[in-house]
Formats: sequence, structure tokens, C-alpha cells
Amino acid sequence: MTTRLTDDVEEAAAALRAGLLVAFPTETVYGLGADAANPAAVARIYRAKGRPAGHPLIVHVADRDRAGAWMAVDPATEARVDRLARRFWPGPLTIVVPRSPLAAAETVGGRDTIGLRVPAHPVALDLLRAFGGGVAAPSANRFGRVSPTTAAHVLTDLDGLVDVVIDGGPSQVGVESTIVELVGPTAVLLRPGGVAREALEDALGQPVVDGRGGESRASGMLASHYAPVASVELIDADADALARALDRWPAADRVGVIAPRRVDHQPSWVLPADADGYARHLYAALRAADDAGVTHLLVVPPVSGPLLDAVLDRLTKAAAPRS
Ligand code: TXA
Ligand code: MG
Repeated sequence: MTTRLTDDVEEAAAALRAGLLVAFPTETVYGLGADAANPAAVARIYRAKGRPAGHPLIVHVADRDRAGAWMAVDPATEARVDRLARRFWPGPLTIVVPRSPLAAAETVGGRDTIGLRVPAHPVALDLLRAFGGGVAAPSANRFGRVSPTTAAHVLTDLDGLVDVVIDGGPSQVGVESTIVELVGPTAVLLRPGGVAREALEDALGQPVVDGRGGESRASGMLASHYAPVASVELIDADADALARALDRWPAADRVGVIAPRRVDHQPSWVLPADADGYARHLYAALRAADDAGVTHLLVVPPVSGPLLDAVLDRLTKAAAPRS
């Protein structure tokens, strides 16, 4: 198969209608999209990604009204969805709720719930409006790898495996959406992301329980995920910790550093000190380190900022033991 690059959303929407795969930009990361109501199209996502079946996909829609058709919720839950949607949609928030029969079983990994999101990227919204339906889309990377934040990253992983790629420039948030589950009476955070937990609690007027570390309900919750090829080691923020870590590595190893400040080592990638800027450039840095042939990465996290929780979550997973 040859992959076509386009900036024509009508052409991309027609491809979705034909059951083809379309990679498209969102404000978090690029998505690998298919018609969420078409089981054969959704099956092609799993094949292209090498993703195990049973990992549910997020369904993207153009607005809150269109999300309604995919949900089957009581009035109290509906009101909570409305509170979140008014404040955070379009935006980096995925809401998991009980589902209607509209989604193909393949889309939701056989579950009776569905994750819904209205992305805040003009190209994504144009595509969703042109298509009209729901677009099932995981991040457009091979399973277990770092999510793509540019069209070039998508092609590195999926050239020849995806039919159409829309280039919408670099993603502005840089890490995946926050996932909150509104299934029982409590709200549960399944994945930290572009919307902070405190902001969810403020909008809902109820506590949001941390659901990580429970059973592996989201693939992003697996211990090792979001990882580059290089092994990853997290380093404390103080300057001595990095120096000590570098001392431990023999010159024969190709050791790289990612840090929120300039460091006296090559190769190194300097990211912004605030977590939001750091998040925007993190995945590109992880990919660049792999491209540079780095085999071990020392990563100094950012210190503060609304996305700190999300960045630490991804770095911890990148540094987790691999199976
Ligand atoms: O920012 C994002 O969320 C990006 C962009 C493309 O929207 N998408 C993304 O998709 O990160 P993916 O498939 O890489 O991660 C989706 C996560 C998975 O961990 C999946 O298990 C979880 O969402 N998820 C989806 N539907 C769910 C459901 N019904 N219940 C629990 N978890 C769900
Ligand atoms: Mg992913």
C-alpha cells in the first residue's frame, strides 16, 4: 500500500467513509483514525499498530451534541458530562461513559463503555465535521512506542500501513489526553494528561479518584509504555545527580541526556523548564535520541507546571522495566 499525504479534509473524509485509515493531527498527539461504526475499518487500526485486540479506542467527534449518540447514560451522568464538556471540549480530555450500540464492538474492545473526545485542533475538527460520524483513533504509532507529534513521526512508524496522512504541524500539547471515567458514582482518573485532575474536580464539584495502579483498564496504564528504543533512567533534578549518573556509564555506551536545562554532555536535548513546554517537545526528543543511536537515556524531569503529573507519568512508564 502507498501512503498519501494530503491537506484536503474532504478527500480524507471520503477515505474514512470507504473504510480506509487516516492519520490526522490533534492538539495532543497524531491519531490513526477509522470509521468507529465500521468493524472492518477498525480491525485495520489494530493490524497497522500491532495493537492487541481488546484495547479499547477513543472515539473522536466534532462536538458535544454528536457525542450524545454514542453514550447511554442516566440524567445525572449526562449532567456531569455536560459540565466537563462545557469547560474542556474541544480539548485534551477523554470521557469514558456507558455506551450506546452505535460503536462497533471492535472499537471498544468488547466493553460496555466508550471513551469520547472532541479534539481542539482546527484540522481535526474540520475532518470530523466533513465526515459527520465518530472517528476511532489511537495514537498513530506502533504499539508500545512513543506517540507521534508530527506527520513525519507518523510516517516513520506507519508509512505503507496507513492510507492517508494529514499534516497539521506539530501538536501543541504533546502528551495524550487526560482520561476520566464516569461510570459509577465516583469519577476516576485513568490517565493524567492535558487537563489536570484539580481542574476536573473543580468543574465536576466532586473528587476525582486516582484509578492508576488498579487493574490495567487503559493500555496507557501498562507499566512499560510510551518508551523509546533506548533504555530510560530518571534522574533527580539536582545537578550532582546527573554528574554521578554520567560517571557510572562507560564511554563505550552511547549515553544521551534530556534535561530542562543546558548540560555539559553530548548528545543532549534541552527542553523548556516548565512542564507544559517540556511536554510539547518530549516525544520528539525521545525519537531524536533513538535516531542518534543513543542506547541509554538519562532524563531529568521538569519541576513544575500544570502538565507535571502527565509528564512524570509518561517518563515513569518509559523508564519501567521492559518485558
Ligand atoms: O490524546 C489522545 O487521547 C490521543 C489522541 C489521538 O486523541 N489518543 C490516544 O489513544 O492516546 P490511545 O489508544 O493511544 O490511548 C487511548 C487510551 C488507551 O489507554 C485505552 O485503553 C483507553 O484510552 N480507553 C479507551 N476507551 C476506553 C474505555 N472504554 N475504558 C477504559 N479505557 C479506555
Ligand atoms: Mg497510544
